[in-house]
Amino acid sequence: MAAEPASHLHRLHQQMERRFRIVEAGPAVQSAVGFLENTTLPVHRWFRYKESFGASLMTALGLDSLRLQDDTAVVDPFCGVGTSLLAADLQLGWRAARIGIEVNPFSAFAAETKVTWRRYSAQRLERLAKQVLAAPLKTDVDEREWPALSTFHDARMFSRHRVSQLVDAVGRVSSIGEPEADLLMLGVAAAAEDLSFFRKDGRALRILGPNELVESRESLTTERALARIWARYRADLLSLTRQRRGEVGLPKPRSTDGGLRSAR
Ligand SMILES: C[S@@+](CC[C@H](N)C(=O)[O-])C[C@H]1O[C@@H](n2cnc3c(N)ncnc32)[C@H](O)[C@@H]1O
Repeated sequence: MAAEPASHLHRLHQQMERRFRIVEAGPAVQSAVGFLENTTLPVHRWFRYKESFGASLMTALGLDSLRLQDDTAVVDPFCGVGTSLLAADLQLGWRAARIGIEVNPFSAFAAETKVTWRRYSAQRLERLAKQVLAAPLKTDVDEREWPALSTFHDARMFSRHRVSQLVDAVGRVSSIGEPEADLLMLGVAAAAEDLSFFRKDGRALRILGPNELVESRESLTTERALARIWARYRADLLSLTRQRRGEVGLPKPRSTDGGLRSAR
């Protein structure tokens, strides 16, 4: 009986090998299976997701040579924060519709926010970011209004004033009725790690040791962290707009924003 699950898996694996082209992973593929290269790429860098692949993965797999018909859709059934869907647009210039499926609602939100970057205006983002930070963030939001997640209630992970300020920022962003609210919200989530006493390590959160970043994180104000990340988003929108204006000979992107849905 104990051998049954293993042999079932083996059969499934064999079936998949018959159906799909297997590519031997060379060094380019290996270095593209990780987030690192995304930290310098516009839009890809909007949220650091440890589990994500690099924007160059599809090229490393040789998929960039595919010539897609106009009615083709690119489907990523485990799309995470949307790296491959975004790379199909920004790195490969594909105009095909894109569809992502992702079980984690937050990752699906991050993917959708990034993949639909054309919805956002750099000018509106700048105005709204100033509006959100016009008054100092509150340091005394009642704990009953905090998210239930235990991480926020653990003083080893976050100072209490930080959680209050993040909750206040989320409240202010939620009241905005413009598309850039999604972008501002992603920024709050992206800034949270820099305002905490932990770092993401695989699927776990590791509490920082005595000599690790604690001082620099304590001296970073929440307002500064948010302003910094939103300024980065704005810079990316501006640079992509400039790039698109200068895109001579490249396919003119029509709306390529594929529908993304959470698998839940
Ligand atoms: C290795 S990550 C892929 C990351 C993605 N390529 C990117 O660059 O962001 C695998 C993703 O699959 C998602 N996932 C796992 N099981 C799933 C399921 N049954 N249905 C949909 N998504 C799933 C995980 O939440 C995770 O985000």
